Amino acid sequence: DKGAYPYYMLKEIDEQAVVARKIAGHYFDEDGNLQGIPCAVTDTIQEADRLYIVAAGTSYHAGLIGKRYFEQWAKIPTEVHIASEFAYDQPMLSEKPFFIFLSQSGETADSREVLDNVKKQGYPALTLANVMNSTLTREADFALPVLAGPEIAVASTKAYTAQVLVQAILAAALGNPGFDLKAELAKVAVEIQAITDEKESFKKIAESALKDQQSAFYIGRGLDAAVALEAALKLKEISYVQTEGFAAGELKHGTISLIEEGTPVFALLTQKKTAGLLRGEVAQVAARGANTVVFASESLAQDGDAFVLPEVNELLMPILAVIPAQLVAYYATLDRGLDVDRPRNLAKSVTVQ
Ligand code: M6R
Repeated sequence: DKGAYPYYMLKEIDEQAVVARKIAGHYFDEDGNLQGIPCAVTDTIQEADRLYIVAAGTSYHAGLIGKRYFEQWAKIPTEVHIASEFAYDQPMLSEKPFFIFLSQSGETADSREVLDNVKKQGYPALTLANVMNSTLTREADFALPVLAGPEIAVASTKAYTAQVLVQAILAAALGNPGFDLKAELAKVAVEIQAITDEKESFKKIAESALKDQQSAFYIGRGLDAAVALEAALKLKEISYVQTEGFAAGELKHGTISLIEEGTPVFALLTQKKTAGLLRGEVAQVAARGANTVVFASESLAQDGDAFVLPEVNELLMPILAVIPAQLVAYYATLDRGLDVDRPRNLAKSVTVQ
């Protein structure tokens, strides 16, 4: 039930703060110790020499963020693969691979095909799914819940942030983030709420940057490049504005030739190491007439930025950085008079290959 909301998507965007708290409550006890991840899961992963995250669409984008946690905190080399590609062109595997399937529905045919293949080869697999008791949770050796609650809108929002959060928790169970993850997640929940409270800002940004536009770009570096992919998918799949998300350093290798007067270029700027370079790229597209819209974290923000993101640990910033993009996609679609929850040609759960 959407209650007072005009669309499920907006309700689900708003639920993200509650979901973050629910996940923290499920996976941490009152003393801040991790719980809810069976030793069999962590022991089996510790025996592996490499993780292979396999997923599609938004879940694949969540995997790109998770890779950072598994590598940086758990020190396990991690590859992220698009399920439909992996299924028919399996890359060379390490000696002791461990598979992680990420899926909101647990029914995505492309991911199921890969799970079938890797099971036949005898490799262990864990599914992180929002719908438990789905094919992918039943058929993997292990399953952990993502706890986003029912997601009805075709455009995935809270399942993405929940998948990122659960991967962070799993990586913390396998290694050491070097900070108090439980405390930081409490902060993340507060700041998600702070951003979703600013809907008017994003409504205005969507109107001014995207009105009458047929194409747009999202750029970022590092984790922000991964969020840019998700941000672009969100905008294109429901508003039909052709949107490309990519690593900002690639602009000069081709895409900058597409910039014209008024082209909307959204920049996500939350990673300190590359903030200076990204500022340079924003200036370059602005000099060619782009309408630049910068979403920057507090300590990196400058005058003229469209929205200042509250700050949490830099590796958790993707959870906050995606929310403006979700809201911009929502309002741009609303402005076009389209059905936000049910974009043309798409199904919520893609059960065919
Ligand atoms: O249920 P899954 O997470 O396996 O679905 C994967 C994709 O089909 C899904 O994330 C899709 O890309 C979303 N509609 C994007 O918003």
